[in-house]
Amino acid sequence: MLELKSVTKRYSVNSVPAVFDLNLNVNNGEIFGFIGPNGAGKTTTIKMITGLLEPTEGDVIINGYNMKTNPIECKRMFGYVPDNPEIYERLTGAEYLNFMADVYGVSSKDRKERINKYIEMFDIANAVNQSIKSYSRGMRQKLAITGALIHEPKLWILDEPMVGLDPMSAKVLKDEMKNHCNKGNTVFFSTHILEVAEKLCDRVGIINSSELVAVGTVEGLKAKSNNGDSSLEDVFIKIVDSEN
Ligand SMILES: Nc1ncnc2c1ncn2[C@@H]1O[C@H](COP(=O)(O)OP(=O)(O)OP(=O)(O)O)[C@@H](O)[C@H]1O
Ligand SMILES: [Mg+2]
Repeated sequence: MLELKSVTKRYSVNSVPAVFDLNLNVNNGEIFGFIGPNGAGKTTTIKMITGLLEPTEGDVIINGYNMKTNPIECKRMFGYVPDNPEIYERLTGAEYLNFMADVYGVSSKDRKERINKYIEMFDIANAVNQSIKSYSRGMRQKLAITGALIHEPKLWILDEPMVGLDPMSAKVLKDEMKNHCNKGNTVFFSTHILEVAEKLCDRVGIINSSELVAVGTVEGLKAKSNNGDSSLEDVFIKIVDSEN
C-alpha cells in the first residue's frame, strides 16, 4: 500500500538531512507504528508521504502510484491527521466536515452517515454547530480525525493522533484503527506512547537521527535485541542509546 524508496529530505542545500535514505514497505491490512526521539524525522517523513514536502531524493509510492507523477491519485487514497491540526477557526464543526466532504466528493447520504457515526463516537455531537474557535485541543483533534476519514480512505496517516485525546476517545480511535486494518486497510501512525505501539501495531519502525534503524514486529525486535528485553520501551531505549 505504501512504499518509500530511498527517501531523503534536506531542508536546505548541504544541510544535514532530516530524513536519510529511508526504505520501507507498509502492507495492506497492517497497522504500522513509527517511533523515534524528538527531531528524529517522523513528521518530515509523514509530510513527504502526504505530498506536503517534496523529497530531496527518492520516491513515495502509494497503492502503486508515484507521488511525483500522480499526486491526485495518491492523495485520494489516504486520510491525514497532522501533528497539530490547524483547522479553519471561523467555521463551525459541521461546516468544516461538509467542506472536507465536498473536497473529496462524498455524497450527501454518505457524509451524513459518516459524520453522525464519528461525532457520536467521539462525543462531539453537541459541539458540531459551534464555531471551531470555541473548541478545546482535544475537540479539534477529534474534528480533524473525523474530517480526515470522511471519504473512507484505505490508508490512514496519523501523526501522533492520541495527543490531546481523553482516555475514552483514545480507546475509540485505537478500536477504529484495528477495525480499519481488519478489513484489509492500512494505518501508518507516529507515536511516543510505546505501550500503545506495542499493543496495537503489527510492525513498528524506529527512526533515530534521520535514519530508519529497526523495522519489525515487536516480538521480532525483542528477540533480535537478545537481551531478555521485556517491552518495546526496553528495545527502543537500547537501540537509541547505542546509536547516540
Ligand atoms: N521546516 C523545517 N525547516 C528546517 N528544519 C526542519 C523543519 N522541520 C523540521 N526540521 C528539522 O528536521 C529534523 C526532523 O524533524 P521532525 O519534525 O521530522 O522530527 P519528529 O521526529 O517529528 O520529532 P517530534 O517527535 O518532536 O515530533 C529536526 O532536526 C528538525 O529540526
Ligand atoms: Mg513530529
